[in-house]
Amino acid sequence: MNRVYLDYNATTPVHPEVLDAMLPYFSTDFANASSIHTPGQRARAAVETAREQVASLIGAKPQEIVFTSGGTESNNHAIFGVVNFAGHAQPPHIITTTLEHEAVLNACQAAEKRGAAVTYLPVNREGLLDAASVDSAIRPETVLITIMHANNELGTIQPLEKIGRIRRERKVYFHTDAVQSAGKFPMDVNALNVDLLSLSGHKLYAPKGIGALYVRTETRINQLLYGGHHQRGFRPGTENVSGIVGLGKAAEIAQRDFAIKTKQLANLRDKFEKGLLSRIPEIRVNAGNAPRIPNTTNIFFAAVDGEALVIALDLKGLACSVGAACSSGAVEPSHVLTAIGLTREEAKSSLRFSLGHFTTETEIDFALEAIPAAVAQLRALSPTYQRAAAHD
Ligand SMILES: Cc1ncc(COP(=O)(O)O)c(C=O)c1O
Repeated sequence: MNRVYLDYNATTPVHPEVLDAMLPYFSTDFANASSIHTPGQRARAAVETAREQVASLIGAKPQEIVFTSGGTESNNHAIFGVVNFAGHAQPPHIITTTLEHEAVLNACQAAEKRGAAVTYLPVNREGLLDAASVDSAIRPETVLITIMHANNELGTIQPLEKIGRIRRERKVYFHTDAVQSAGKFPMDVNALNVDLLSLSGHKLYAPKGIGALYVRTETRINQLLYGGHHQRGFRPGTENVSGIVGLGKAAEIAQRDFAIKTKQLANLRDKFEKGLLSRIPEIRVNAGNAPRIPNTTNIFFAAVDGEALVIALDLKGLACSVGAACSSGAVEPSHVLTAIGLTREEAKSSLRFSLGHFTTETEIDFALEAIPAAVAQLRALSPTYQRAAAHD
């Protein structure tokens, strides 16, 4: 059975060019990038090239890129790096939103337990934050605003430029979790006016377990880990040379193929959404009117249990998800969907489909057959849906 994978926001396959670029660093060029001998210097040169490639993707300077183990570490580093630097003379205050990934929300909650105050700003029905609400939430003790660029479940893009202008006037550090927008939406740290930005390799066709944190030159934050002098002591630990090379190559490909890939993705996603809306009654695109990254759609299917639909589609050979992969198995409905005003039932009846660079039109055609069939089967088993239909 040919499998159709529409879960690229959970993770992406490693791009063949990325794999090719990485392979020598597992074998012939395996040396430690901190060693001063020739093989070590070759590894160091590869790390520095990758730093330039990643910096170039986001309009940063190479020395502003710190390699990490992924998006979770980058988000934690940004939050605790700022909070710890601020010290405890005055409890620091953080501003974030109710829509963030758990790597930000749970870090904020941990910061609260250590005495910080956190404001969780609400978003509207389309998943968008009102930039003015950020302005009003700033207090004298506010040390950080952390707001994601694109949401992983809905794909909505927040108005970061506006927030960036506000925070610059108010002199508060600004972090964004750009894990889902990198390579899918134009990104320039200066246009966005951010001081800190998180990236993750495995959402960008590089491997899992590698990421980066952009730290603007003049930003003062503490390190999280203590150890050797790697990455100027800021993030100690022997560098994951092959992973770093992979992330660099992925950043280069993302920049090179950006225009064509984003257009292709938007066309396929729009065909997918229109196709489903015309074939299945009583469905709705969640946050469908917001500006979104081109590969993501989140759909509410009335009277269908989301997990049952994921399983039914899996049996037909199609992979998709109910919200974020890291929340799978959770009894609670997605906090993102309830944050945009869906009821618990509506949230549990919604699925995320996320397309990627290797999605084909044939796969979308397959999905447009498989999904209506699975929804019809599940609704036929639902007594409440059958009763309601009988009264129509
Ligand atoms: C928006 C967002 N932030 C952070 C992360 C965590 O990244 P990583 O898996 O690299 O730790 C994810 C992964 O799902 C994500 O979607």
